[in-house]
Amino acid sequence: MSKKIFSGVQPSGNLHLGNYLGAIKNFVELQNEKDTECVYCIVDLHAITVNQDPKELKKNIRETLATFIACGLNEKKSIIFNQSSVPAHSEGAWILGCIARMGWLNRMTQFKEKAGKDKEKASVGLYTYPVLMAADILLYDSTHVPVGDDQRQHLELCRDIALRFNNEFQTPNFLKIPESLIQKNFSRIMSLKDGTKKMSKSDPSDLSRINLTDDKDKIINKIKKSKTDTMPMPNEEENLKDRPEVLNLLEIYSSLSNSSIEKSKMEFSGKNFSDFKDKLSSLLVEKIEPISKEIKKLLNEEKHLDAILLGGTEKANKYASIKVKEMKKIIGF
Ligand code: TYM
Repeated sequence: MSKKIFSGVQPSGNLHLGNYLGAIKNFVELQNEKDTECVYCIVDLHAITVNQDPKELKKNIRETLATFIACGLNEKKSIIFNQSSVPAHSEGAWILGCIARMGWLNRMTQFKEKAGKDKEKASVGLYTYPVLMAADILLYDSTHVPVGDDQRQHLELCRDIALRFNNEFQTPNFLKIPESLIQKNFSRIMSLKDGTKKMSKSDPSDLSRINLTDDKDKIINKIKKSKTDTMPMPNEEENLKDRPEVLNLLEIYSSLSNSSIEKSKMEFSGKNFSDFKDKLSSLLVEKIEPISKEIKKLLNEEKHLDAILLGGTEKANKYASIKVKEMKKIIGF
């Protein structure tokens, strides 16, 4: 059976190594698989669930697209578009919002984290965010959704919404129940400053992450300053539960070298941290610097970027508008 892939990335600036290793690197691999159709969406409607400066938002949409292309996505192989230009996403989200239950949304940990202490001041959009995500996925009959570990709960909610819709209207296979594709090992890249915190665009410290636009010097400096501990590099048997920073750096190294943590532990067992950091920096520079240079180049080609989005939007619209029309028919409109 052929696979239908859907995934999205918010255009909120500062796409980083976590986005790359947890998601975009897999997007590219899936794009190049046989019998696989891929749809990749720049989720600008999701971005406005928190305040955005309109000029910055426009710039970030282009930058996210440039990042996709620089990482290896190809508009001839995948459908690449921005969410707000396909109206079915908003329509579908409204309908599915009437299927989802408050109790389900109340359990979403990402809302709790993002809303912080003052929930009353969070936007309603931030609360219903996972419903829009469900619409994104379900409109394309997606079979698989590649994401980082932080999106696991949202994916489960999407499945619940689809099942409930199908049951309520007795249309058993109308909304396809998608599976998440979350890698076993590299699905949660942590901050370079605190191995217990996810690497994130919203961390105020730029030293906490490698941005995909960082140049060589920045990468080297950030790895030099990354947190480690005073113990030597671990050996193969050592369990790294209590050394989250070391584990994270080894995970980054392993993922970039397409290797396993075990092999990386073996490679550096008994060596100095500085040896490991040197190797890690070189590998990061080798993999990330070409992406960063390509992003900068593409950002000068606004017309080219806008044409890619326009082409993708046309294709996405074809799928999504049919599905939402069918949804409306089923519910009696
Ligand atoms: P967003 O924009 O926060 O992140 C984009 C992708 O990057 C992954 N990711 C990470 N993976 C590993 N380690 C990290 N530190 C890390 N940080 C981010 C995320 O898991 C994600 O896969 N809600 C989604 C966007 C979205 C979506 C969708 C995804 C909207 N609609 C439909 C899939 C399907 C989000 O905010 O991702």
